[in-house]
Amino acid sequence: MGAETVLRLDGVSKSFGAVQAVDRASLEVGRGEVFTLLGPSGCGKTTTLRLVAGLEDLDAGEITLRGRPVASASRRLFVPPHKRNLGMVFQSYAIWPHMNVFENVAYPLRLRGVKRRTIRDRVTQVLDLVGLGGLERRSATLLSGGQMQRLALCRALVYEPDLLLLDEPFSNLDAKLREQMRVELKLLQRRLGITILFVTHDQIEALSLSDRIAVMHHGRAEQVGSPRSLYEQPGSAFVRDFLGQTVILRGRVDRAEIQSVAVTMDGALAGHTLAGRAAAGVAFTPGLPAHVAVRPEDIEVTLNEGPLPARNTLAGVIEALLFVGDRYEARVALGGEQRILLLLPRAREWREGQRLQLRLPPEVVSVWPA
Ligand SMILES: Nc1ncnc2c1ncn2[C@@H]1O[C@H](COP(=O)(O)OP(=O)(O)OP(=O)(O)O)[C@@H](O)[C@H]1O
Ligand SMILES: [Mg+2]
Repeated sequence: MGAETVLRLDGVSKSFGAVQAVDRASLEVGRGEVFTLLGPSGCGKTTTLRLVAGLEDLDAGEITLRGRPVASASRRLFVPPHKRNLGMVFQSYAIWPHMNVFENVAYPLRLRGVKRRTIRDRVTQVLDLVGLGGLERRSATLLSGGQMQRLALCRALVYEPDLLLLDEPFSNLDAKLREQMRVELKLLQRRLGITILFVTHDQIEALSLSDRIAVMHHGRAEQVGSPRSLYEQPGSAFVRDFLGQTVILRGRVDRAEIQSVAVTMDGALAGHTLAGRAAAGVAFTPGLPAHVAVRPEDIEVTLNEGPLPARNTLAGVIEALLFVGDRYEARVALGGEQRILLLLPRAREWREGQRLQLRLPPEVVSVWPA
């Protein structure tokens, strides 16, 4: 990595009894980066964050902050949390209810013995930054959910940590407020240039906030990359299915070339052939079972009039139609038991029973081993 590395995990493991919560996880976070750990419940996200924070000690591997080892199994090293210069906001952020807004933010500085005047300046500055300026004297319990969330952020930001650890910080907020906080955090992060290690199981949050994402699976970083590269070029079926929706169709490999694999469909779609690129560098042999995958939004939908073009096109019928505001969600029957979920633009009138023509452009189709 070109930029200075703020955080490095090298083969870090942690188990609780028989549960391997983190399993030889390795990753690097650069200065000014928003790096997200994304994965299903129980995959080890919070444990990883707690290891970085020093709230847990590791069983194996090493953690380095700004080039300084803070935890190492082989060196028997463990630097306590308050000497790691980290800011933290956890899911159940605790606002001190007996303190007003100002005191809540000032407290971490008082603990560090910062001078009164400096405290006043820094607290005022950071409250202004998140739009809480003017609320200094208000009791913290009288804030709205979004304001409390911002207060928790302020408290973590005020002593200018090298790294900000955020564990599902918006999970207590309703959908609207979550969206708003997402944008605010992004703007704040850009303005301050802070480095953030973010934890979420919400893919939209991860895709929209992150410079890079590590998709975690069973305690390991299964794939690391930019949101777009993970979405468009997932390296495994797990990453593919965890990020976004995927339409999967089953068949057998007909022809396999370097650039393109053609798959003949099974069952009710027998006779149709779909061509796409081989996923994740897999080599295919004709005759083997395969899965054809495509993102629903990449399928080109038109009304079915006349005969189907031969290649990469299927026929379907709208079986159920759900209006969800910005678009329609349609369950489309492809014949037999095969059904797929598609997104249809609101600009057109759709109705149940309508016959569709679905084109799956080869460049957005990927072929996977079954
Ligand atoms: N203190 C603990 N004692 C025993 N088991 C634990 C402890 N902390 C975590 N675990 C287990 O370790 C695994 C990873 O937990 P972790 O909290 O890191 O998951 P997570 O990815 O943060 O999940 P979620 O999205 O639900 O918050 C889980 O199986 C969990 O039950
Ligand atoms: Mg967690």
